[in-house]
Amino acid sequence: MSFDYPDKVRIFEVGARDGLQNEKTQIPTNIKVELIERLVDAGVTAIETGSFVSPKWVPQMADTADVMSEIERKQNVSYSVLTPNMKGYEGARNSGADEILIFTAASEAFNQRNINCSIAESLDRFAPVVAEAKKDGIPFKASVSCSLGSPFGEEITPAAVAEVSKKLYDMGAYEISIADTIGVGTPRKTVEVLEAVAKVIPLEAIGIHFHDTYGQALANIHAALQVGVTKIDSSVAGLGGCPYAPGATGNVATEDVVYMLEGMGIDSGLDLTKLIKTAWFISDYLDRAPVSSVAKALKNKLD
Ligand code: HMG
Ligand code: MG
Repeated sequence: MSFDYPDKVRIFEVGARDGLQNEKTQIPTNIKVELIERLVDAGVTAIETGSFVSPKWVPQMADTADVMSEIERKQNVSYSVLTPNMKGYEGARNSGADEILIFTAASEAFNQRNINCSIAESLDRFAPVVAEAKKDGIPFKASVSCSLGSPFGEEITPAAVAEVSKKLYDMGAYEISIADTIGVGTPRKTVEVLEAVAKVIPLEAIGIHFHDTYGQALANIHAALQVGVTKIDSSVAGLGGCPYAPGATGNVATEDVVYMLEGMGIDSGLDLTKLIKTAWFISDYLDRAPVSSVAKALKNKLD
């Protein structure tokens, strides 16, 4: 049997934003800065550094402007931030973000809890953000939460995910991130959703953002690779969770993804040893082991 896997993928590292946003104890800015710089040193070229959202809603991200000004920027690295509205966009622009992520969902119930508006309202709210971003020449991606299932019991159909993805793509998002916010998806559902989305937007514009709550993320990524998706979000040490998705745990760990890709001969451009050291750096700070199996298995082999 042979499959047509891609030769190369792009990892978008979300550990400093999605990974840390749910931490209850405020993490000092200098730790976030060191995390981001270590990840870039490990070869990451696309990285989410934080979010310009209401500090009342997500206090952990309140220092994103400081993080952005303190990191030592490297050329050829895109430093991205998440923005829910114009106020967030202004923060992003002032911080010199290379790109932004706007975000909505395939679940109405989740969107209300996460950004306090319906899916349709969120698209209206993004319209001026998108207009400004285009004027400023800042590229933007868009995320569709709950694409493989909702924490609130609604059925999420592939058609519903495709519909919102198409609207975001038509607004000018260069990539649509299909997010399994609560990590419930399985490979067949993953393929069904990705195939439905690929019928309405180009395959090259599809990214995947899988949380690993049910331990399915690697299997789902493997299924997505077979569909031809080459843009993968992940979070070092498997950090993460969304404060407005009950029960959601971290994103798939970057080092687990890179280990799998290396074994399959797929180039991610990342250095596995440096990633594992970074996973232990942040995990030691948080005083718990990484969720990542690979980081645990290879710890004793680090020099
Ligand atoms: P709202 O209360 O409806 O907004 O919240 P509002 O416009 O009425 O403003 C209320 C207050 O927030 C005002 O302050 C605003 O100035 C302030 P006050 O007058 O009360 O002092 N405010 C802001 N402050 C800073 N930055 C801003 C901003 N906007 C308003 N940008 C809002 C609406 C969107 C602001 C709120 O719901 C919010 O911040 N939500 C963020 C939720 C969030 O960050 N969730 C996690 C990230 S998404 C995620 O993790 C999913 C993803 O990973 C994919 C996946 O896995 O599914 C991307
Ligand atoms: Mg997420």
